[in-house]
Amino acid sequence: MKKINNYYLPLFFVAILFLAGSCKKDLGSSGSLYTPTNADVTATATLTELQQGRTLYSNNCGSCHGLYMPEDYTPVQWKSVLNSMAPRTGMSASQVLLVTKYVSKGK
Ligand code: HEC
Repeated sequence: MKKINNYYLPLFFVAILFLAGSCKKDLGSSGSLYTPTNADVTATATLTELQQGRTLYSNNCGSCHGLYMPEDYTPVQWKSVLNSMAPRTGMSASQVLLVTKYVSKGK
């Protein structure tokens, strides 16, 4: 009885480590992206635009790498990121504009 337990214990630990590790490296899933509310509306971004931007962002920008969080970059940095990343997606210019409004929080 004792011998069997000792034999399985290390396997058990390895399994736990594996399971714990698999959720850790996640750069970000759409679950942790902010959901726009009226408080996020600015002079240049309506609530609808922000909501559409969020959907477009999570559908188009996470296929090669995880989704970066809007707060990871400043609005100015996001503009240059979008300049280099947008051509790698199939998005139109107006869709890219919506994504830009979402990630830079309407700024
Ligand atoms: C076809 C694959 C692909 C798609 C689609 C893609 N990216 Fe990237 N992204 C990359 C690669 C590769 C890098 C690594 C740096 C580089 O190649 O410029 C990167 C890097 C980044 C970085 C880090 C830049 C830095 O300098 O820290 C951000 C932020 C980013 N992507 C955002 C986006 C956004 C926003 C979109 C959607 C508009 C997007 N990516 C779509 C491939 C992609």
